[in-house]
Amino acid sequence: MAGIEGFAPNLFVGKTVFVTGGGSGINLGIAKSFARLGAKVAICGRTRERLDGAAKEIEALGAKVFTHVADVRQPQAVQEAIDATRAALGPIHVLVCGAAGNFLCRAEDMSPNGFKTVVDIDLIGSFNASRAAFNQLKETKGIILYISAGMAYMPYAFQVHVGAAKAGIEQLMQNLALEWGKYGIRSCSIVPGPIEGTEGMKRLADPKSLAERLSHIPLSRMGTVDEIGAAAVFLASPMAAYITGAQLIVDGGSGLIGSAFFNVGAEAVLRSGA
Ligand code: HXC
Ligand code: NAP
Repeated sequence: MAGIEGFAPNLFVGKTVFVTGGGSGINLGIAKSFARLGAKVAICGRTRERLDGAAKEIEALGAKVFTHVADVRQPQAVQEAIDATRAALGPIHVLVCGAAGNFLCRAEDMSPNGFKTVVDIDLIGSFNASRAAFNQLKETKGIILYISAGMAYMPYAFQVHVGAAKAGIEQLMQNLALEWGKYGIRSCSIVPGPIEGTEGMKRLADPKSLAERLSHIPLSRMGTVDEIGAAAVFLASPMAAYITGAQLIVDGGSGLIGSAFFNVGAEAVLRSGA
């Protein structure tokens, strides 16, 4: 629960938060942070069992939960999820676009469909959700939070697909801040660094050199899902009412040390065939 103790416990009472990819990891952590502060929470993803497990965790915090199976690559499915959320929980105040796919792959080995798959999930899926939620966010004067990554700003080896997708997300985020500000809709991104216990770390980090890499990060450790949740809560709160088009980097300073150490570790992971 670290991170949200400073926020009023009823900060999001009466508000509805919709999280794409909310069934696991960082996105589930964000959903739980809002739930702890009184929000009603909707989550979507492709896997019914995963959503059910996540819903139990969120309900255990006392929050009202709605789940809907939807692949963010399918605009109609996302629209149905967003519309059904309104019927179940009321209009959406906070949209979190967190659904993502990732794997390590050398650019020369990447199939066109592999590249397209990640761009489809991360970037086009984020647009699909944003577009589908527009009317509700206009009504609530809500906010969109995009879950980005350091790959948006700096090249990381074997992440050509993710770099393109996340850089696109940053541009999407700022374009919507520009166009939708007049409706009272804010749009921001959160850029997590390495977050412990997540699928992303399992897929990308070389376990053998992880400790060494962490020692070079200014804050010398991985972040936690609760720390990303706290950043999301802050951006969605009245404290951030004049913040839009902003990228909030929550990475312990890891973006300051470059990607070279990651690249060496990723090479080792690919060589090991993991
Ligand atoms: C090369 C691969 C591959 C791999 C899939 N592909 N995995 N290519 N290396 N390891 C290729 C396939 O061969 C296929 O191309 C195309 O990608 C689509 O694959 P499918 O399996 O059909 O796709 P799908 O079932 O839609 O699954 C999407 C996925 C999968 C992205 C491939 O990994 C997934 O569902 N991921 C969701 C969970 C996840 O990735 N979480 C981590 C997020 S962390 P062909 O040409 O053969 O048809 C994150 C961290 C950021 O983003 C930063 C951390 C520091
Ligand atoms: P994760 O647990 O795998 O989260 C991704 C979620 O997205 C899963 O719940 C997955 O559920 C869902 N998803 C994937 N494809 C989808 C699709 N097509 N439609 C709908 N839902 C889909 O990974 P994570 O590591 O916590 O990452 C979460 C977010 O943080 C991502 O945006 C990632 O890029 C970002 N990030 C992570 C790190 C890190 O250290 N882990 C660092 C920087 C940024 P289903 O498979 O059931 O659909």
